[in-house]
Amino acid sequence: MHIVLISPECAPIVKVGGLGDFIQGLAKELQHNGHQVELILPKYDTLRYDLMPDFHKLEEQIWSPCYEEYLPCDIYAGSVEGLHCFFIEPQSPHQFFDRGAVYGQPDDAERFAFFSRASLEFLLKTGRQPDILHCHDWQTGLIPVLLYEVFQDTPLHHARLCYTLHNLGHQGVTGDYVLRLVGLEPASLITPERLAHHDNAGGVNLLKGGIVYSNFVTTVSPHYAWEIQNTELGMGLQSTLLTHRDKFGGVLNGLDYSVWNPDTDPLIPHTYNHERLNEKMHNTRALRERLGLQDVHQPVVSVVSRLDGQKGVDLMIHALRFALANHAQFVLLGAAMDEGTQQTFEALQQEFATSADCRLVLEHNETLAHWVYAGADMIIIPSVYEPCGLTQLIAMQYGTIPIVRHTGGLADTVFDANYAEQAFEHRNGYTFNDSTADGVESGLRRALGLWHEYPDYFRQLRLNAMNSDHSWNASAQHYVNIYKHLLNK
Ligand code: ADP
Ligand code: GLC
Repeated sequence: MHIVLISPECAPIVKVGGLGDFIQGLAKELQHNGHQVELILPKYDTLRYDLMPDFHKLEEQIWSPCYEEYLPCDIYAGSVEGLHCFFIEPQSPHQFFDRGAVYGQPDDAERFAFFSRASLEFLLKTGRQPDILHCHDWQTGLIPVLLYEVFQDTPLHHARLCYTLHNLGHQGVTGDYVLRLVGLEPASLITPERLAHHDNAGGVNLLKGGIVYSNFVTTVSPHYAWEIQNTELGMGLQSTLLTHRDKFGGVLNGLDYSVWNPDTDPLIPHTYNHERLNEKMHNTRALRERLGLQDVHQPVVSVVSRLDGQKGVDLMIHALRFALANHAQFVLLGAAMDEGTQQTFEALQQEFATSADCRLVLEHNETLAHWVYAGADMIIIPSVYEPCGLTQLIAMQYGTIPIVRHTGGLADTVFDANYAEQAFEHRNGYTFNDSTADGVESGLRRALGLWHEYPDYFRQLRLNAMNSDHSWNASAQHYVNIYKHLLNK
């Protein structure tokens, strides 16, 4: 099959969160299974160009609409760990992708709407006729709409469209001008069945457009698929998802074990595996030393996260204080998503600046993230909602015990040491139900208790976690089955 993935992120060259990991992992697995895989991304100024030695500009230019005019775009190509990637760079004063950041611009909807149309123009101009277009999140929500409304009389009309929802907290709610920007006629599209936003008269919902117009829609875990159809976690899209339930399903994300493997990880100080688990403690020592913490007989509790309302930041702070009061150390690696959160955590960072047991690092730092997964004993993930979550999967792979709220993909992958229905060898962490201080304490208290009182059991729990299999193998096969189903229709 010829599969084109169109996405705003792909690790390691551009990654804000798990979407970047997802694209890298799925694309590699599909290519490994013999499919012809290509990726289309914006040419951000912040791409990791150093990781693409063959990066070059193609001779061909394309033209794509931007309101009344057509903008010329340069196309670049580069390989990312063997994956064929194309990058679109509009030549215009808007400087859509030269902003020093991936998201958070006032014109995000226009930037990614332009990118969506330009991606289709690129495929058309270069004579590509992919079997499958696989698009992701609100940023590419207009691609299915455009494919159906504008490109039906072109060779691209054969392509089937799979659309994956990674986070309903971001829907790309905007105005009708964004439709006009890409050459769509707003009047017939802004209806409740199509792109109209549910509680904003005249508002356009790009994510909803993607759901309505795609041939198949997935989200990133079965439990989240249920939650967004049946609870307020659907964030206004419950009825749209229920209307389209025959073409909707949850597929659990995989993890790229060539990137996330303590036995081969080039970024961590000491490699280890389940047979050499004792060597994990050298990583704990190295982490303490790097962060200036004392070397004591206490577990290291950690957070690796975007600092965002979705992730339960208040409960992270509660967990920090609870851990420090209960014979544990605490390490937080987090990048704040807004100014208020940044200030809150800077104040906390100040408070613990001279602590021998607690450190907060407020940035996105890929290498330090690997050190934390390898060096910590536990990771706290108190998410308000979590479509899949990769940090618990990574932590488990490194023998670091997840303590998570029972929601979304966390509920599908973490099984409580005391209460899960699973046999003991499948239990791999701690879960709690309520988004409250009591909830977080109930998980953390039990984990700390086991570490201090029953080290042999704690070790066994680590081994259970390391043995859980979340490789891309099975998940990619699910996507291949969906693609085949679409091509046979
Ligand atoms: P989300 O996509 O909602 O942020 P996921 O759990 O799916 O959550 O994925 C998060 C990814 O981003 C993981 O690969 C995690 O290691 C990484 N990550 C999160 N915060 C940081 C940080 N501050 N520094 C480095 N990596 C981070
Ligand atoms: C989103 C979700 C996260 C998921 C990731 C990759 O960022 O917040 O839960 O793991 O996408 O699908």
